[in-house]
Amino acid sequence: CGIVGYVGGRPALDVVVDGLARLEYRGYDSAGVAVLADGRLATAKRAGKLVNLREALAEEPPPAGTLGMGHTRWATHGAPNDRNAHPHTDCTGTVAVIHNGIIENFAELRAELEDGGHKLRSDTDTEAVAHLLENELAAVDGNAQGGLAEAMRRVCRRLEGAFTLVAVHTGDADLVVGARRNSPLVVGVGQGENFLASDVAAFIEHTRDAIELGQDQVVELRSGGVTVTDFEGRPADVKEYHVDWDVSAAEKGGYDYFMLKEIAEQPRAVADTLLGRIGADGRLHLDEMRISDRELREVDKIIIVACGTSYHAGLIAKYAIEHWAGLPCEVELASEFRYRDSILSPTTLVIAISQSGETMDALMAVRHAREQKAKLLGICNVNGSTLPRECDGVLYTHAGPEIAVASTKAFLTQLVAVYLIALYLAQVRGTKWGDEVFAMVQLLERMPEKVDKVLETMEPVRELARSLADERCVLFLGRHVGFPVALEGALKLKELAYMHAEGFAAGELKHGPIALIEQGLPVVVVVPPRARDVLHDKIVSNIQEIRARGARTIVIAEEGDESVQPYADTLISVPAVPTLLQPLVTTVPLQVFACELATAKGHDVDQPRNLAKSVTVE
Ligand code: G6P
Repeated sequence: CGIVGYVGGRPALDVVVDGLARLEYRGYDSAGVAVLADGRLATAKRAGKLVNLREALAEEPPPAGTLGMGHTRWATHGAPNDRNAHPHTDCTGTVAVIHNGIIENFAELRAELEDGGHKLRSDTDTEAVAHLLENELAAVDGNAQGGLAEAMRRVCRRLEGAFTLVAVHTGDADLVVGARRNSPLVVGVGQGENFLASDVAAFIEHTRDAIELGQDQVVELRSGGVTVTDFEGRPADVKEYHVDWDVSAAEKGGYDYFMLKEIAEQPRAVADTLLGRIGADGRLHLDEMRISDRELREVDKIIIVACGTSYHAGLIAKYAIEHWAGLPCEVELASEFRYRDSILSPTTLVIAISQSGETMDALMAVRHAREQKAKLLGICNVNGSTLPRECDGVLYTHAGPEIAVASTKAFLTQLVAVYLIALYLAQVRGTKWGDEVFAMVQLLERMPEKVDKVLETMEPVRELARSLADERCVLFLGRHVGFPVALEGALKLKELAYMHAEGFAAGELKHGPIALIEQGLPVVVVVPPRARDVLHDKIVSNIQEIRARGARTIVIAEEGDESVQPYADTLISVPAVPTLLQPLVTTVPLQVFACELATAKGHDVDQPRNLAKSVTVE
């Protein structure tokens, strides 16, 4: 979910609704706002996307106030309807709450409240908090200075699970209170105004100065200042930081969709992620990682944990780490990792990959690894997010804000980050691949131009995608690093076009998936470079096998690869690069393909149904 809070001198409704528009990628099942004006709370909420709320507000504008908050929801408890949309209020209508996360003991709390005479109107866990606040406000003298903050601390001490809560109360017209446990919340610091949001994008047009909140903290936001305490009321240390991208980075800049812009930004994103990390001597410098070379030399096993597209980056990392760094490497879905008896030790390096740094499954996997005393390294795109704080070290990707729900440029920069880590491990550990490592580092610097070249030749891919808009199923095949690329191609198509799409290791074809091949079925095949002759020849045979059974073959191969031509119904050529780096160029056509096909079907590619970009629940 996305959360915005504001107190200052401007009309709060405008600030809040504009902020929600920038956070809508976090969930779009419903949206709502609360504004405090003339000592009264006005709320409005609507199921569906923010546009529905905007219409409702235009029809019936709430009174103007300078304090308010808003919410855009990804439903967990209760159907995504008007009634379950946030904000939720108490019985008296004097306190309103919005929430991101899951309150695990909500059933018990609701029962207790109902026994105490409270009438709950929604099916949500959040509403319980509004009523608990009502009780605590009565107990602490809610109209006294800071009464709402004290009530919030008392309520938080009773809650289990993960939550970001923001509340306002008619008793104090200059106070917004936020609370955070395991769920994102940042403060934007302005002049005579302050902001709260799930992500800096919500307030970036007003201020680039932010405060990162820690775990289990409550923030009192007033127009003149910000106070942070822990749940017991003790003052807390906070970290201030400056956001280094500006508002244009969070806007569409002439593109119809953020996704199109983000695909186009990939050469820049790859270049930015390499920037400053390769020295004039051709060696890598990753001291910023905060894990010493000595510690890296002691590592004897690597486990990568991640979800969704980031997991696919992890699968590719395995090939790079095993080859260049010569270390055993496992890759695991973060959501599975902590429920397994994985074998970890202080010499195990766990690498968590997460664009947002807020995915709950990834955070929980990291905590599980910490309990087992492993070393923790995060790969993350969002400064100020939770993951970097929970790891021993971090390597940031510099993709800039990624707003479209389906990941594109963040994925490519994650690949760059894992290549850098694999090569750096090889450098500090002195593996047998010294010369190759040196050559690879040089080649990495040429990748932005290769990705650019792919983007220049995408028109036939778009045409192909439009021609396949009525298909029901598409298969993707690859070998070696082409296998995770196939998985990513299929995921993109599922996410955006809501089509059945599966990725397979081409070698597995004969063990089952070949039964799916029928006349005209589109099958995308990612072909390794010719230099990998054994791999290459095997996949050329696979293409012949599926074509003989009627498949319509769409072949992605390096330019000049004539051996695949006779068996390709459509041939997509990409620049020649070494095998391990090939995903940087072979993924791009698959992103463009899925995006164009979904657009041809009339789907909103930025906000696919049922998904959210940052899933902060398990
Ligand atoms: C969600 C998004 C995916 C993303 C995954 C992991 O499910 O819809 O696009 O790959 O989360 O996100 P992360 O921020 O941890 O990389």
